[in-house]
Amino acid sequence: MPSSRKDFLSILDYSREELQGFIDLCLEQKPLARKFELEPTHPGRVLACIFHKPSLRTRISFEVAIRQLGGTSLYLTDKEIGIGSREAPKDVGAVLSRYVDAIMIRTFAQQMVAELAANAPVPVINGLTDLLHPCQIMADVCTIVERFGTIEGKKVVFIGDGNNVARSWLNAAARFPFSLVLSSPDGFQIEDSYLEKVGNPDYSWIEDPREAVEGADVVYTDVWASMGQEEEAEKRKKAFQPYQVNDDLMKLAKKDSLFLHCLPAHRGDEVTDSVIDGPHSVVYEEAENRMHIQRAILCKLMPKNIK
Ligand code: CP
Ligand code: NVA
Repeated sequence: MPSSRKDFLSILDYSREELQGFIDLCLEQKPLARKFELEPTHPGRVLACIFHKPSLRTRISFEVAIRQLGGTSLYLTDKEIGIGSREAPKDVGAVLSRYVDAIMIRTFAQQMVAELAANAPVPVINGLTDLLHPCQIMADVCTIVERFGTIEGKKVVFIGDGNNVARSWLNAAARFPFSLVLSSPDGFQIEDSYLEKVGNPDYSWIEDPREAVEGADVVYTDVWASMGQEEEAEKRKKAFQPYQVNDDLMKLAKKDSLFLHCLPAHRGDEVTDSVIDGPHSVVYEEAENRMHIQRAILCKLMPKNIK
């Protein structure tokens, strides 16, 4: 892997072929991992996992993935490190790299992750920022490829906030040949300034969720207020009420459409129980795939054990 791309900070940092390489390895390793037949290719390697926000999936899937490769992990919160307050991100990146073989970080500012990565010789992986959630969308693409055989030509409709998950979907649309529709209230779209950075994906914004979801292969949603937006939750709940993914909305998608949600879900808000527990939903498969794709990313970014 070229050193300029030692990290996994954004889907946009990689070409379609390289992203496909992660997906192929993910799908190749998944059945082996399920049967405990995966070769422990990275014995003794240590992954530092830094969390400034809560997590179930990201933490556990990374910690288990590195163990499946023969390595181990460290869970670090901001209480210990104080990135940006006790110590500059660049110093944290440089020092941690002397102890560990890769760093996964979940935090608020993408800039902090970039600064840490710029000064860390070891790979740095973005486990979610306010801007992006690239590992999530890689798992989502794997889930779609598993179910449909390909994402090519599919219509993915994201119903909800133009947030970190939506922006990473946009990045995926800039690399893979599928069409992405975002349906949100006016004012909650992906920012024009971000759209300009992404190039020319097959992307559109449609305010009316019923119009947007017409003929969808994949219907996706996420919470209306992301971590860090808790004080806006009530205001957002009102604005997003017409954007609930329920049975009436799902009926407008294709018969064999998939329902995906990155989780955690606020059942009864952005999605009804009947949809998330219903026949279209693949949310638990999607959650499992976080572990398989992240293991593939670790495998490709971390040098194998040198004896
Ligand atoms: N989807 C996801 O990232 O879940 P966690 O917040 O639980 O890690
Ligand atoms: N948009 C959500 C995703 C959680 C996995 C958040 O940032 O809280």
